[in-house]
Amino acid sequence: MVKQEDDFKKVISHAKEYGYVFQSSEIYDGLSAVYDYAQNGAELKKNIREYWWKAMVQLNDNIVGLDSAIFMHPTVWKASGHVDAFNDPLIDNKDSKKRYRADVLVEDYTAKIEAKIDKEVTKAEKRFGNAFDKKQFLETNPRVVGYQEQINTILKRLGKSLENEDLVDVKNLIEELEIACPLSGSRNWTDVKQFNLMFGTKLGASADSAMDLYLRPETAQGIFVNFLNVQKTGRMKIPFGIAQVGKAFRNEIVARQFIFRQREFEQMEMQFFIRPGSQKEWYETWKEKRMAWHLSLGLGAENYRFHDHEKLAHYADAAADIEFKFPFGFKELEGIHSRTDFDLGSHEKFSGKKLQYFDPELNESYVPYVVETSIGLDRMFLAVFSNSLVEEELDNNTTRTVLKLPAVLAPMKAAVLPLVKKDGLPELAQEIIDDLKWDFNVVYDEKDAVGRRYRRQDANGTPFCITVDHQSLEDKTVTIRHRDTMEQQRVAIADVKAIIHKEVDMKSWLQRMA
Ligand code: GAP
Repeated sequence: MVKQEDDFKKVISHAKEYGYVFQSSEIYDGLSAVYDYAQNGAELKKNIREYWWKAMVQLNDNIVGLDSAIFMHPTVWKASGHVDAFNDPLIDNKDSKKRYRADVLVEDYTAKIEAKIDKEVTKAEKRFGNAFDKKQFLETNPRVVGYQEQINTILKRLGKSLENEDLVDVKNLIEELEIACPLSGSRNWTDVKQFNLMFGTKLGASADSAMDLYLRPETAQGIFVNFLNVQKTGRMKIPFGIAQVGKAFRNEIVARQFIFRQREFEQMEMQFFIRPGSQKEWYETWKEKRMAWHLSLGLGAENYRFHDHEKLAHYADAAADIEFKFPFGFKELEGIHSRTDFDLGSHEKFSGKKLQYFDPELNESYVPYVVETSIGLDRMFLAVFSNSLVEEELDNNTTRTVLKLPAVLAPMKAAVLPLVKKDGLPELAQEIIDDLKWDFNVVYDEKDAVGRRYRRQDANGTPFCITVDHQSLEDKTVTIRHRDTMEQQRVAIADVKAIIHKEVDMKSWLQRMA
């Protein structure tokens, strides 16, 4: 646990030190769970967004994009169920006065049991070496099986109580598990209460005429209310999808773990409109497609898993998370939800407008069903960033900190380094930059010895360093150093662009999804 916490602290401080993520309004001591993306962070975020958008919109001829407003008519949120049901169960500790999400307290408890399973696995791996069969071990080791049963029983009961709105039982569960406040150590809890997560605001100048609005807690509703507009103007035929990326806002009770859970964040969502009855098939298809997108980035298949929901949101008939192994354990990265006709049906009722599709093949009109994929851009950022940050032991007994970002996502693709600050080397380096910058983000760095500059670019996540030396002036060659292998090659300046392109080209990365 300590190791996990240390690793996570390193991630947070590295993100700050290298210009990726800053606390919002830091000079005023910050604002809790609100973050700013700095010069490198904004680029990484933009690249992830583009990687998602291309996979969704550009590569699927039946998916189109949308950019709807954050402000929406307040009835949208009544119809969507968010006014009545977008709640988290909260509980206060009477001694520390600290507020918690009751379900998170229970889930943290089960995460500790899961950590025990991981420990048993690590021990067994060491004991059995190459002969170790993890699957068999997890299924047969009595201690592990016992732990897993414990987890399942607890989560099942939590899911059921939340589904039935039985908040008394949620409190009973916390008491039975003897969960203590991490701050005060006491078990002196209040009752569990529901808390609505939407932020309210007002539209209009005068107090009498102002209209109460909400900041959208998900981008999906902008897609639903535009369903017919897009279908008609785009002449879309079912099945088809609408994708959008945008800000969402939630007044999270437990906002912690850096950018994992924020009050203002960005979502990348896609609603796929289908015939009623075909939802199971499309749900499975989108689970598979989304996992393939994640795996294409090469962060390691072992770092992902599906988690089927016990407790379904008010709109879903099936739901699963793609969980990622963050530095604090496996947690939700993306949700895939079979939303039925709940949203469109409800908007029909509340708006009095028909939101139906005439299916020429069936010769009938219906309210389409929807399968949604919904991923947090900030969470994806954290997944990529934390997974990429490694401390490497080198042969000469030193270590290096390297941010092994997938090259396609790296903010800077190359750094151009003149070996010395004289003899015309800076000028040649600048010429190379002037040529490369039309294709990639490149950076110039002339400060410190070249070894230190390499380390700086390693820590920054830059996949290539191009060093210009005296030989470069004579034969128009440079050395190109690869971040991950540290290998250096002497290549013609004329070939540099093609070498970088080969590694960072989005097409070849996205083709790995197939
Ligand atoms: N439209 C469906 C929906 O909003 P969700 O599971 O509540 O579903 C989808 O959210 C994704 O949005 C999550 O998987 C997560 O990646 C991201 N997300 C949700 N709340 C977040 C928060 N407070 N901070 C950062 N990301 C968040």
